[in-house]
Amino acid sequence: MHRRMAEPYKIKSVELLNVLNDQEREQALIAGGYNTFLIKSEDVYIDLLTDSGTSAMSDLQWAALQRGDEAYAGSKSWFRLEQAVKEVYGYRHVIPTHQGRGAENLLSQLKIHPGNYVPGNMYFTTTRAHQELNGGTFVDIVIDEAHDPMIDLPFKGNVDLNKLENLIHKVGADQIPYVSIAVTVNLAGGQPVSMGNLREVHALCHMHDIPVMLDATRCVENAYFIKEREPGYEYMLVKDILKKMMSYSDGCTMSGKKDCLVNIGGFLAMNDDDLYTRARELVVLYEGMPSYGGMAGRDMEAMAQGIYEAIDDHYIKHRIHQVRYLGNQLLDAGVPIVRPIGGHAVFLDARQFLPHLRQEEFPAQSLAAALYLDSGVRSMERGIVSAGRNKITGENNRPKLELVRLTIPRRVYTDNHMDVVADSVISLYEKRNHISGLGMVYEPPTLRFFNARFEPLSANGKLI
Ligand code: F0G
Repeated sequence: MHRRMAEPYKIKSVELLNVLNDQEREQALIAGGYNTFLIKSEDVYIDLLTDSGTSAMSDLQWAALQRGDEAYAGSKSWFRLEQAVKEVYGYRHVIPTHQGRGAENLLSQLKIHPGNYVPGNMYFTTTRAHQELNGGTFVDIVIDEAHDPMIDLPFKGNVDLNKLENLIHKVGADQIPYVSIAVTVNLAGGQPVSMGNLREVHALCHMHDIPVMLDATRCVENAYFIKEREPGYEYMLVKDILKKMMSYSDGCTMSGKKDCLVNIGGFLAMNDDDLYTRARELVVLYEGMPSYGGMAGRDMEAMAQGIYEAIDDHYIKHRIHQVRYLGNQLLDAGVPIVRPIGGHAVFLDARQFLPHLRQEEFPAQSLAAALYLDSGVRSMERGIVSAGRNKITGENNRPKLELVRLTIPRRVYTDNHMDVVADSVISLYEKRNHISGLGMVYEPPTLRFFNARFEPLSANGKLI
C-alpha cells in the first residue's frame, strides 16, 4: 500500500488570506497592468512568485530572535552563525552579507579582473551581473540537455566537462579566476548536480589550479536529489551528503533566503586564508563589520537555527515531495511542464501551453496573468519579457525557454494549497484556446519585467 506523507510541522500561528471574488481579481489584475509583480500581496491568495525570503520560520527561530545580540562589533549572534556555517557546510572561513548578491559582489570584486572568463552551469541574473560588472565574461558550461525542457535526466544541472576543458585550453587557466557551480540550477528548473560530476569538476579544476566556488543557495535540495538518485548515497543522511558535496569546492556564495529558511541574510565562505583576509577588508565597505555584514543580530540567530533545521531528513523529504506533488498532478493531466520536476518550483512551458500565441504576444506573461485571474495564484514570467532587449540592436532577446514559474515557499503552504493550484492550472489548460496574448503598453528601459504594463490583444479586451 502506498502510504501518504503529511507536513512534518504543525501550525502554531496563522496568517489570514484575502479571498477575492472574480470581479475583484479582475480589477486587481487591470490595476497591476497584467503584471504579477505589480499586484499587491494582499490581493493574492496563494503566492508562488518566489521561494526567496518567503519561508515560514519555526518557533525555535522566532525564539532565537529574542537572543539577538545587536552589538556593533563581536556580536554573540555572529559567532553562533559562523559556527553553524562551519559545522554544517565545512568551510574554514565565513563572511556575512545581507543576502546572496552581497556575497556575489564581494567574490566577483575580489577574484575577477577585466578580460577574465567565469564558467558556470547556466547563469543566474545577479551572479552574472556582478561577474560582468567586474569585467568578466560568463561562459555556460552546463550540459546541452539543461536547455531542453522535455529531456528527463536525473542530474540535468551537471557540468559538461568537455566544455570546461575546452575553455581552459582556449583561454588558459590563468584567465579563469574560479568556476561557479550552482547546486541546484534555478533557471534550468531547479535541476541538481551529481556528486560524481562535482568530484570530476573539482579534480579537473585542481589540476589547473582553478578554485571551485559553489552557488549554495539551494544546496540542501541538491543533496536530497543525490540521496534519491545517485547509487551509493541512498542510506546516507542528507547532512553528510551535503558536507561531502561542499568538500568538492573551495568556497561558496549563499543566499540564506532559500535553504537557510530565513527572510533575509547570506554569506560568502571559503577555505583560502588570503581570500578571507581580503574579504574581511572589502565587506566593511559594502555590507558592514565582518561580524554582522548587513544583518541584525536577530537575523543571524534565525539563520543559524535555520541552517540546522534545513538539514533534517524529514523536512527536506517533504519539501521535495510537495513540489513534486504539484508537478505530478499537472503531468498526469497532460499539462506541459519542465522535466524532471526540480527542487523549488514547477515551471509551466508556455510555448506548448499556448501554441496559438507568437512569442511577441508574451505567452508566459499571458499565462501568469490568466492564472491570477482564475484563482488568485501568483506566479512569475521567465521568458521573453524577462530576457529584455539586445543592447546593440534594440531587438527583443528571444529565449528558447518561455516559462511560468510556480515557486513553492518553504513550510508555508499545505499540500491542499497545491491541489488548488493544480486545479486552476488544469482548468486553464482545458480552455487554453481562449487565452489571449498581451501587448506591452509601458516598457521600462532596464529590468523591464518588474514594472512593464500590458493589455490583452483580444477584440473584446478580455484576457480569457
Ligand atoms: N543565486 C541563485 C541561484 C538565486 O536563485 C538567487 C536569488 C541568488 C543567487 C541571489 O540571492 O536574492 O539573496 O540576493 N533568487 C531569487 C529568485 C531572487 O526568485 O529566484 P539574493
